[in-house]
Amino acid sequence: MEQEASYTIGFAQCTGGDAWRQAMHDEMRREISFYPELDLIIKDANNNTSLQAEHIRQFIRQGVDLLIVSPNEAEPITPLVEEALEKGIPVIIVDRRTASSFYTAYVGADNYEIGKLAGNYVGELLGGQGKVLEIWGLKGSSPAQDRHRGFVEALQGFKDIRVVAEVRGEWEKEIAKSRFPDVYQQVGEVDLVFAHNDVMALGVYEYLKSIGQEKKFKFIGVDGLSGPSGGLQFVTEGILDATFLYPTGGEEIIRLASKILHKEPYDKENILNSTVIDSRNVHIMKQQTDKILTQQKSIERQQEKIAEQIEIYQSQRVLLYILLGG
Ligand code: FRU
Repeated sequence: MEQEASYTIGFAQCTGGDAWRQAMHDEMRREISFYPELDLIIKDANNNTSLQAEHIRQFIRQGVDLLIVSPNEAEPITPLVEEALEKGIPVIIVDRRTASSFYTAYVGADNYEIGKLAGNYVGELLGGQGKVLEIWGLKGSSPAQDRHRGFVEALQGFKDIRVVAEVRGEWEKEIAKSRFPDVYQQVGEVDLVFAHNDVMALGVYEYLKSIGQEKKFKFIGVDGLSGPSGGLQFVTEGILDATFLYPTGGEEIIRLASKILHKEPYDKENILNSTVIDSRNVHIMKQQTDKILTQQKSIERQQEKIAEQIEIYQSQRVLLYILLGG
């Protein structure tokens, strides 16, 4: 018979529809298959903070053994995370942070550092002079705030570079694409678009392309996702001048959850590394990630085969039991 899961993990995910979070979920599912005692439930709040708050309340009521939260917005989700902890449920925060340090552990990259890397890169790319338009992720989410802060701080080292306007893209390609034209009309010429993620940069690029002006701009994004609709592909095609790797961390999250549940030692802060990806290294990065993607597919196929074999074995056992007269 199938082994009973002895720990239930609830994941209150801020949004689940985009490729970056799909990649995170795929990694988590692949990794969790090595831990038959763990069961994962993902609830997708679809960018809605009050729905995410409700999901956390449901998980608390259900009495999950561990909670994973990627807070859509930092402030409103903070008290709920604290409530879970007070009820004795350990909480892993992933990617987006809450507004306090009251949590069990964190997994994600350093978004302030990414903003700084991006600012310094832009400073060099523009030769120390130019106008920048910044496309923001959701204002209440910590990666948007941190990427902005790091970016602006790095640009202070380049006195002739100015951020002349911003667009609230809310992390979504279509929102960035639809809000950009008004702002563009008001500010006129700019040299570079810095978007807090790659898909928003792509949205703006697509709009500018539709009016034949995409060549006038340089584009910088964040995420550097592999696969056909990821940032690595956009850099390869010359849509983005550069992106900054923002690892999804799915495997690390599950490994950490297992350590916490099994009362093994773990680190509270698990900071994933970032790096710049541009025309100089995109080829090698793509080769490596394509290879990993192929290996992951093969692991998934093997796992399916094993599951099939287990099923055959179990039905044969039942048959034998019946034949032997139970
Ligand atoms: C995906 C995403 C990424 C971004 C991250 C920030 O949902 O928008 O593109 O890097 O969330 O939390």
